[in-house]
Amino acid sequence: MSTAKLSLDGKEYELPVITGTEGEVAVDVRKLRAQSGAITFDPGYGNTGSCKSNITFIDGEKGILRYRGYPIEDLAGKVPFARVAYLLIHGDLPSEQEARTWRRELTQNSLVHEGMLKFFDSFPVTAHPMNILASMVSSMSSFYPHDAELEDDEHIRANILRLLGQVKSIAAFSYKKSIGQRYMYPLSDHSYAANFLRMMFATPTEFYAVPKVLEDALDMLLVLHADHEQNCSTSTVRMVGSSGANLYASMSAGVNALWGPLHGGANQAVLEMLEEIRKDGGDYKKFVAMAKDKNNPFKLFGFGHRVYKNFDPRATLLRKASDAVLNELGVEDPLLDIAKQLEEVALNDEYFLERKLYPNVDFYSGIIYRAMGIPTDMFTVMFTIGRMPGWIAHWLEMRKDPGGRIHRPRQIYVGPNLRKYEK
Ligand code: ACO
Repeated sequence: MSTAKLSLDGKEYELPVITGTEGEVAVDVRKLRAQSGAITFDPGYGNTGSCKSNITFIDGEKGILRYRGYPIEDLAGKVPFARVAYLLIHGDLPSEQEARTWRRELTQNSLVHEGMLKFFDSFPVTAHPMNILASMVSSMSSFYPHDAELEDDEHIRANILRLLGQVKSIAAFSYKKSIGQRYMYPLSDHSYAANFLRMMFATPTEFYAVPKVLEDALDMLLVLHADHEQNCSTSTVRMVGSSGANLYASMSAGVNALWGPLHGGANQAVLEMLEEIRKDGGDYKKFVAMAKDKNNPFKLFGFGHRVYKNFDPRATLLRKASDAVLNELGVEDPLLDIAKQLEEVALNDEYFLERKLYPNVDFYSGIIYRAMGIPTDMFTVMFTIGRMPGWIAHWLEMRKDPGGRIHRPRQIYVGPNLRKYEK
């Protein structure tokens, strides 16, 4: 094993170096504080490896994303979401038999506990569906046994199936509730994506055949969102889970982290921004100028990424898919024209080029969701449904890590020195 040398206050420290299977190098600072008294400082954790993981590999400079070794380009639009979820959670793609069993189990577990259905009635009609989802997922701890789960793999498997099965039902039910329609139930011969669309758009009085173009587009979107290594929500899931919190509690924390507009909430923010540009007369250049103005906190939503500094491979796939889906659906959307102009300007602008700011996955996903008829405030919920298998895979990996410890960063205190309390 190679080592790194650190010189501090005239003393030298030798630190172990870890190398990943793709050649990524990390300096192991775990013993640094015990040896030297110093900690490492990295707000926002942009340069901190919080764990070793064998789930997802990203090379942000080269625009590479792989799940368990498979390039995203070989999975999205080619392997159904349920199988990709199996891959992330189990480590390998399922055999045909395993895939059939997995799909059947997911459908069997998609019925929301009858006791929880009442909760939908208690939320105000203005409630954001992400808030409903987070609360419902958290409530599942009270409805399904989890006491033995730290020891018992069977309990965990059952809870995983419930989560994956029910997350789409909860999402669709919250939509049905918001428009005053009856909940629709899934069918066992439908794929995961088709069942979600059925629960969203079917009504009890009409036959509903899930449009193939929508099923395929949704399936692809879910696969593209399924995992993204140590992003904000996944790190939150690991952080909460590291305390021994149960699966549902950890996932609910992930939902709340994803909700933020700098993370999963960006897909909703992109559409709202495009709408604002349209209402303002379509002058997208004004908004680009605002984003570049250091005195203006405005950012172009859907641009930039902490890790991708070349292109976001998911955005590349979605850009192509959005053209195909909109053509096939015959949708002509003025917001799409604005999006394309914005993209064009930003891709050729010095400010964006210098900072390596490219359209991210959220830039295109909202446009496709909108064409599919998904309401804007459900966009981040769609992201959550896709991300659930990734969170679960990370939660399991974190739990099984023999060297795992409770997550507990340090800080540099910059507050007042000792003060005397006087009455
Ligand atoms: N518009 C304008 N300027 C931007 C943008 C943007 N969207 N994103 C970054 N910048 C600028 C920053 O102001 C900064 O400029 P400076 O060097 O002159 O100070 C520089 O680019 C670097 O940006 P950081 O904020 O350091 O980048 P960071 O890695 O911390 O943030 C983030 C990444 C949060 C994605 C950011 O680019 C952003 O806010 N984008 C818009 C929101 C968004 O689309 N989020 C979705 C991300 S994808 C996902 O979560 C699935």
